Amino acid sequence: MDGQQVFKMLPVEEAAELLGRGPVSSLPYYDPDRWELERRAIFMRSWLHVGHICEIPEPGSFIRREIEFARASLLIVRGKHGDVQAFHNACTHRGTQLVDEASGKRSRFSCRYHMWTFGLDGALVSAPDFERFHAAKEDCSLKQVQTQVLAGMIFINFDPAPKQSVREFFGPIADALEQTPVARAVDFTEWTYEIEANWKTSFDNYQENYHLRVIHARTGRPAMGPENPFGYPTSYGFCGPHRSQTLWKNPSPPPIPPIQLMSVRRGAALAEKDGVSFPKSDFKLFPCLHIVALPPNQFSHTHMPLGPTRTRGQIRMYWTSKADSASRQFAREMAAMSVRDVLAEDRPAIEACQRGVSNGAIDKFYFQDHEILLRHLYEQVESRVEAYLAERAAAGGAQ
Ligand code: FES
Ligand SMILES: [Fe+2]
Repeated sequence: MDGQQVFKMLPVEEAAELLGRGPVSSLPYYDPDRWELERRAIFMRSWLHVGHICEIPEPGSFIRREIEFARASLLIVRGKHGDVQAFHNACTHRGTQLVDEASGKRSRFSCRYHMWTFGLDGALVSAPDFERFHAAKEDCSLKQVQTQVLAGMIFINFDPAPKQSVREFFGPIADALEQTPVARAVDFTEWTYEIEANWKTSFDNYQENYHLRVIHARTGRPAMGPENPFGYPTSYGFCGPHRSQTLWKNPSPPPIPPIQLMSVRRGAALAEKDGVSFPKSDFKLFPCLHIVALPPNQFSHTHMPLGPTRTRGQIRMYWTSKADSASRQFAREMAAMSVRDVLAEDRPAIEACQRGVSNGAIDKFYFQDHEILLRHLYEQVESRVEAYLAERAAAGGAQ
């Protein structure tokens, strides 16, 4: 299934008619109180992408993930039967963190403090002198966090009873994701960075092409031409809280530098050899996951909030085979570097944008028609915050 077939794709005028054209409040892009509402209304109860099953290939494999906005350290474990579960990385005796390593493989998790020991399923297996606790072992299992896997990607949800499964949350996009190489990935190249920007300011940069000819005058040249000097997408699509766009195809792109061309050709040949084929697609998934498939590569870009004006970006290019030859390694490194170069151009502009917004003097933003995806994210966030406030009011103000 083509990723774009699952979105209702519209020409820009129609999309803008649908979503409106007025200015929007800048407050959600810097205000700490507002961030606290988004944290509770969205991030503490949405499916969040935190890893890939290729990181935990065998029973006992685990990864540790720090989720700062929830003050949580999570242990994501591949169980005996291949199942994937996430637990709080905290011993149920008195809370000591069980694991310091970022990843590894174990058959059990023993606490360094008094040696309570937990199985891969989180159950308390043994505890010295347990008779003196007057507690049942069954009540002392590791604290679980909801976990589901879709298209090889691991999603967690801090809501103990999510309203939707991850598949329901993504709707028809779920099937499209399963047909992308990420679902079959066995390896990836990763780049993680922190940026002084609100998570929406960060994500929004990748939701519009208006800045291309200013910020990416050199690297963005293939995406612009005399027929389309701004390199605007040709259509925009929406599917629930998720978005997409169709990038314009330049009929006469400028020549690519020879070294890059070599890498692109090599990458394409190797992808063909591996049987990797997939349609070009662009998934901007709520709340903060961006997946771009530009054959022969596919990369994900997560904008995980760390606070009101700080975000961790994580970029991963996924591969369906190990880098078992120099040419494969070269093609991958070059592809990753090319993405990194473009993002390095974006970063100072994103941070300058945040610095200018954070004192509230600029109280509203003007989104032009081709910034429609920013408007859609703004509205989705607004509606969730409003729903949360209504729920809280109905519950008598309890949080
Ligand atoms: S805190 Fe873990 S065994 Fe005591
Ligand atoms: Fe950019």
